[in-house]
Amino acid sequence: MHLSQRELIKGRLIIFLLLGVKLFTGIESRMDWNVECPLKCACYIGRLDTENFKQVMKIVNCTKAGLSLIPQNLSSSTEALIVSSNSIKDLNLPPRMRQLKYLDVSNNKVTSFDKQIQKLIQLRNLNLRSNFITSLRNGQFSGLKYLINLDLSKNKLRYIEKHAFGGLNYVQRLNLEDNNLNILENQWFVGMPSLKWLYLSRNVLRELKNGVFDTSNHLDTISFKENKIRNIEHNAFFGLEQLATLDLSNNNILSIPSKSFLKLPNLKKLNFDGNPIYRLVQETFCNLNVSVLSLSYMPHLSVIEEGAFVNLTKLISLQIHDNQKLVFIDPNAFDNIPSLRNLYIHNNRLRVLPHKIIQSLPSIKVCHFYSNLLHCDCNIDWMVNDIMSKNHTSIMYDGAMLMCYTPPSRYGLPIVSLPQTNETQNCVPMTIPIYDKNYEMSIGEELRLECHATGVPEPNITWMLPNGSMLSQSIKYNRIEVKNKFILIVRHLQKSDSGLYACQAANSEGFDISETLVKVINKPIRIIALPSTLNYITITWNGTKYWSMISDYQIHYREAKSRVNYRIVHLSPYSRRYTFSNLKSYTSYEFCIVYVYSTEMYPVDCINATSGKALDYLPGITSVNTKAVAAVITIVVMIFILACAIMVVRKFKRRKSYSSTTDEEDTFVTTQIPLENVYQPNTYMCSSKTSLIRAQEQ
Ligand SMILES: *[C@@H]1O[C@H](CO)[C@@H](O)[C@H](O)[C@H]1NC(C)=O
Ligand SMILES: *[C@@H]1O[C@H](CO)[C@@H](O)[C@H](O)[C@H]1NC(C)=O
Ligand SMILES: *[C@@H]1O[C@H](CO)[C@@H](O)[C@H](O)[C@H]1NC(C)=O
Ligand SMILES: *[C@@H]1O[C@H](CO)[C@@H](O)[C@H](O)[C@H]1NC(C)=O
Ligand SMILES: *[C@@H]1O[C@H](CO)[C@@H](O)[C@H](O)[C@H]1NC(C)=O
Ligand SMILES: *[C@@H]1O[C@H](CO)[C@@H](O)[C@H](O)[C@H]1NC(C)=O
Ligand SMILES: *[C@@H]1O[C@H](CO)[C@@H](O)[C@H](O)[C@H]1NC(C)=O
Ligand SMILES: *[C@@H]1O[C@H](CO)[C@@H](O)[C@H](O)[C@H]1NC(C)=O
Ligand SMILES: *[C@@H]1O[C@H](CO)[C@@H](O)[C@H](O)[C@H]1NC(C)=O
Ligand SMILES: *[C@@H]1O[C@H](CO)[C@@H](O)[C@H](O)[C@H]1NC(C)=O
Repeated sequence: MHLSQRELIKGRLIIFLLLGVKLFTGIESRMDWNVECPLKCACYIGRLDTENFKQVMKIVNCTKAGLSLIPQNLSSSTEALIVSSNSIKDLNLPPRMRQLKYLDVSNNKVTSFDKQIQKLIQLRNLNLRSNFITSLRNGQFSGLKYLINLDLSKNKLRYIEKHAFGGLNYVQRLNLEDNNLNILENQWFVGMPSLKWLYLSRNVLRELKNGVFDTSNHLDTISFKENKIRNIEHNAFFGLEQLATLDLSNNNILSIPSKSFLKLPNLKKLNFDGNPIYRLVQETFCNLNVSVLSLSYMPHLSVIEEGAFVNLTKLISLQIHDNQKLVFIDPNAFDNIPSLRNLYIHNNRLRVLPHKIIQSLPSIKVCHFYSNLLHCDCNIDWMVNDIMSKNHTSIMYDGAMLMCYTPPSRYGLPIVSLPQTNETQNCVPMTIPIYDKNYEMSIGEELRLECHATGVPEPNITWMLPNGSMLSQSIKYNRIEVKNKFILIVRHLQKSDSGLYACQAANSEGFDISETLVKVINKPIRIIALPSTLNYITITWNGTKYWSMISDYQIHYREAKSRVNYRIVHLSPYSRRYTFSNLKSYTSYEFCIVYVYSTEMYPVDCINATSGKALDYLPGITSVNTKAVAAVITIVVMIFILACAIMVVRKFKRRKSYSSTTDEEDTFVTTQIPLENVYQPNTYMCSSKTSLIRAQEQ
C-alpha cells in the first residue's frame, strides 16, 4: 500500500517533469482529500506516525520539493504541514492556518521567524531540527499555547533570551541537542511547567548553576551528554522532584558532586560514563534512591575506595566496566546495598575480586568480571569453589570466560580449570601499585604514589624512601605524608628527593615490593642567544614564571675561556629576555640561567655566545685562501671602525634604548628589570678591556 503510493508520486513527478505542466492536483492519498495542492507536494488524509505524534490528519507533505518558500495557498483546513528537506530560509507562514497542529520544517535553512507562527494556536508539534537558527527572542513562541513538542536540535543556537520559551505552558518535550549553548539561564524553564523531557546533549555547557530548575518539578529526563561540564553547584538540581533519568556522560567532571543528588528523591538512572574522574572516594554515592548507576568508559578511574557506595537501598544494576585504568576496588567499597542484582565490572584491569565484595551484596544474581588482569592465588579460591560447586545456582558468573593473568605459571588458564581448595590457605601478598615504573618530575612539584595489596592474612603496607627510611603508619612530616597507609605524598620536590621509592606489602607468608624510580630534574628552561651586533648580546629564554617556592631567577655570565667568578643579573619572574651591552667584541661569553629554590641554586641551561658575530658565515672563512681572509679582515675592520663611530653616537641614547625595545612584550619585560641590575654603557666600549673584567677588578 505504502510502496504503491510512493511509486505513484514518483510517476507523477516524472510525468510532470516531462510535460512541464501541472497535470494533477494532489488527488491520490491514503484517503482522498479533495483540495488544491501546491506543486510537488502531496495532500491527503492519513495517519501521522512519528515518535512523538500519532494521529489521523489532513496532511500536506512537501518533503524534498525544492522549495525556498513555504507554499502560501494552502487549504486553511490543513492540519499537518511537512516541508522537510527544502531550502526554506524564512519561516513565512500563510495566514489563517488555524487548524495546523503539526509543522515540520526540519532540514532547511531557517534563520528567522515570522510573527505568523504565533497565530498557530492549535499547533501541537513544531519541528525545526537541522536549521540555522542562532538565537531566540523573548516571546518568540508566545501564542503557541497548546504546543507539546518543540524540536530545535541541530541548529546554531548560541543565545536564548530569558523569556524566549514564555507561554509554552503545555510543552512536554524540548529538544536543544547539537547547538552552541554555553550557559543555562535561570528563567528559561520558568514558563514551562509541563516540561518532562529536556535534551541538551552536544552543546558546550561548562557549568550547572543553582536555580535553573527550581520550578521544573515535572521534569522526568534530562540529558547533558557530551557537553563540557566541569562544575555542578550544590543546589543545581533543586526543584527536580520527579526527575528519574539524569545523563551526565562524557563531560569534564573531575569529582562527583555527591551532595547535589540528595535533592533528587525520584532519581532512578544516573549516568557518569566517560568523565575524567580519577577515584571514587568514600561516600561518593550515599543515601540515594537510584536503581541504575553507570560509571563506565572512564579513562582515568583507578581506584574505588572503601565505602564508596553506601546505603543505596534501591540500587539494582551497577555498571563499572571498560575503565582502562581501574586496578583496585576496596573489599569494603559496598556498604548496605541490599538490592543489587547485576554487577558489571568487566573490561577493567582489576587484579582481584575480593570475596568480601560479593558477600556484602546479598541480592547479587549476575556478576560480569571477564577481561580483567586476574591474579590466581588463594584470593580466588572462593571464586573457583563458587563456580565449580554449583552450590549457589543463584549467582551467574561469566565463569568460562575468566582467565588468569598472573602468576606466569597460570597465565591464560581458565579459572575453572584450577583445582578446588579448602579456602583455608594463606597466600603471600601481592602489591597493586598505582604508579608507573619511573617518573621524571621538576623541582617544586608534588609526588603522589598509591599502592594497595592483597594477601591472606591481610598484609601491612610499608613505604620505603630513597634514603632508606621506612614509613608504615599514616604520618605527616613537613613535606612528607602517608595517607591512609596506601598513599605517599612528597611535596615541593627537591633534587635530593630523586631515587627509588618502594611499596612493600608483608604478612606472615612473605612480602612483595613494587618500586618506582623518581628523577627530580630542573625545570625545562631553555636559553638562546639572538644574533648579536658587535658588543651587544641579547639572550632570551622560555618557561620562567612565578612559582611560590622559587625566590629568584638570575643570569650568571662570564667570558667563556676565563675562570673568573660569574657576574650575576637578577631577573623578575616575568622576564623573557635580557640585553648585555657592555661586552668585549668578538669574545665568547658563557650565559647561564639559574633559579633559587628553597635556598638552593639550580643552573638550568647555559649557552656560549660570541659578541660582534652577527652572521653564521664567519666560521666558514677558515677554509678560504689568505687573500680572501685579508679582504674580509679589512672589511671587518672598516665595519668595526664605522660601528665604533655609531656607538659613540648611540651611547648617549643607550639608557633610553633599554626601555624602548622593538615589540610590545619586550617593553613589558624590560621595564621589569631594575635598572641597577642593568649594565650601563661605559667609555671602554671600543677598547680591548671589557667592562666585565673591570667589574671583576672593582
Ligand atoms: C496558488 O493557487 C492558485 C489558484 O488558486 C494557483 O493558480 C497557483 O498556481 C497556486 N500557486 C502555487 C505556488 O501553487
Ligand atoms: C512525506 O513525504 C516523504 C517523501 O515523499 C516521505 O518519505 C514521508 O514519509 C512523508 N511523510 C508523511 C508523514 O507521510
Ligand atoms: C528516597 O525515597 C524516599 C521515599 O521514597 C524519600 O523519603 C527519600 O527522601 C528519598 N531519598 C533521597 C535522597 O531523595
Ligand atoms: C546509612 O544508613 C544508616 C541507617 O539508615 C545510617 O545510620 C547511616 O548513617 C547511613 N550512612 C551514611 C554514611 O549516611
Ligand atoms: C552451599 O551453600 C550453603 C548455603 O548457601 C552454605 O551454607 C554452604 O557452605 C555452601 N557449600 C559450599 C561447599 O560452598
Ligand atoms: C580439605 O579438607 C579436608 C578435610 O577437612 C581434607 O581431607 C582435604 O585434604 C583438604 N583438601 C585440601 C586441598 O587441602
Ligand atoms: C630520609 O628523608 C626524609 C625526607 O627527606 C627525612 O624525613 C628522613 O629523616 C630521612 N631519613 C634518614 C635516615 O636520613
Ligand atoms: C602488621 O601491623 C600490625 C600492627 O601495626 C602488627 O601487629 C603486625 O605484626 C604486622 N604484621 C606484619 C606481618 O608485619
Ligand atoms: C623550553 O623550550 C624547550 C625546547 O624547545 C622545551 O623542551 C621546554 O619544554 C620549554 N620549557 C617550557 C617551560 O616551556
Ligand atoms: C662554553 O665554552 C667553555 C670554554 O670553551 C666551555 O668550557 C663550556 O663548556 C662551554 N659551554 C657551553 C654551554 O657550551
